[in-house]
Amino acid sequence: MSRTPSSEIRLASRPIGIPTAANFTLARTELKPIRDQQVLVRNLCMSVDPYMRGRMNAGKSYVPPFELGKPLEGGAIGEVIESRAEGFKPGDAVTSSYGWRECFIASPKDLHSVSRAIQPLSVYLGALGMTGMTAWAGLHLVEIRAGETIFISGAAGAVGSVAGQLAKLRGCRVIGSAGSMEKVMFLREECGFDIAFDYKVGPVLEQLNLEAPDGIDVYFDNVGGEALEAALSSLRLHGRIIACGGISTYNEEKPRPGPSNLFNITTKRLTMKGLMVLDWLDRQAEFEKEVGAYFRAGKVKHKETVVQGIDKAVGAFLGLFQGQNVGKMVVELA
Ligand SMILES: NC(=O)c1ccc[n+]([C@@H]2O[C@H](COP(=O)([O-])OP(=O)(O)OC[C@H]3O[C@@H](n4cnc5c(N)ncnc54)[C@H](OP(=O)(O)O)[C@@H]3O)[C@@H](O)[C@H]2O)c1
Repeated sequence: MSRTPSSEIRLASRPIGIPTAANFTLARTELKPIRDQQVLVRNLCMSVDPYMRGRMNAGKSYVPPFELGKPLEGGAIGEVIESRAEGFKPGDAVTSSYGWRECFIASPKDLHSVSRAIQPLSVYLGALGMTGMTAWAGLHLVEIRAGETIFISGAAGAVGSVAGQLAKLRGCRVIGSAGSMEKVMFLREECGFDIAFDYKVGPVLEQLNLEAPDGIDVYFDNVGGEALEAALSSLRLHGRIIACGGISTYNEEKPRPGPSNLFNITTKRLTMKGLMVLDWLDRQAEFEKEVGAYFRAGKVKHKETVVQGIDKAVGAFLGLFQGQNVGKMVVELA
């Protein structure tokens, strides 16, 4: 029986500060023939995500660190090539956490079948995947209500752009910040944000005060740092914060002190809730039903930035920290 050639990205070394291409290697490998209860999958697209930066560090976190010399892991959508397991046949589309490689062998429990009727299939990495579910879960977490004003940082990315569209569908006034004029236009014209501004052209708080002089009700934090500090100042009495991410801090060599104005939580009786999408997996079917219907009806758009080939995956990952993506950053492998 023949072996299947594949390429994969391995962790070569752990970064200090900003990761570089030298922290990764591209390796060729050959997969053995599959055995009973195994499925051979060829990845069509893989995801690169900011949280992967944390997994490059040693030490315990909410997910295990990537292992030196081993292939990285992450979300992927692939096609079954060969199956010796019930429930999977060649041509089926499946999602998995076997990203960063062209082909892999898995047991059925590690695969999630998805419909090919929805296109592009990469939407299962974005609006209908982990990042879309993060946006959906975040809004549930703080029980967002019609008429409220929500500010979303990192708004033009995978999570932010879906969070804004869902908040609009729930009747909110939506303000977003992003790192370029192109992204600001995308938020206003394609995602229906009421207001969007470029956080690089002036202090976030000044721009936020200009656009929301009466303050905001909810802050969806993807960025941390200056954006979080501005939101703490802008939030109204009993305001809520969805603590989703802090990408502005992920490459810090030493942890920075927290926001200087944290005492606003006390004086304004704010609530800050930590969001971990992994906690919401038991509601995945509900998410897929609701947001899938919005997607099919054209009410939620899945925007993506696509790079081609596994040899470009590292560049795509590093590009997240330079704002090179509009919407979901996706690496097409086949
Ligand atoms: N809690 C959870 O379960 C969960 C799940 C998924 C994601 N997240 C978090 O959600 C956030 C967004 O993730 P995503 O997958 O949607 O990524 P993304 O927004 O699609 O991509 C990252 C974006 O972050 C922005 N950025 C990079 N460096 C920045 C900096 N120093 N200051 C401000 N913005 C910066 C860039 O956009 P600009 O051009 O606008 O700078 C970049 O495009 C991340 O913090 C991620 O860790 C959390």
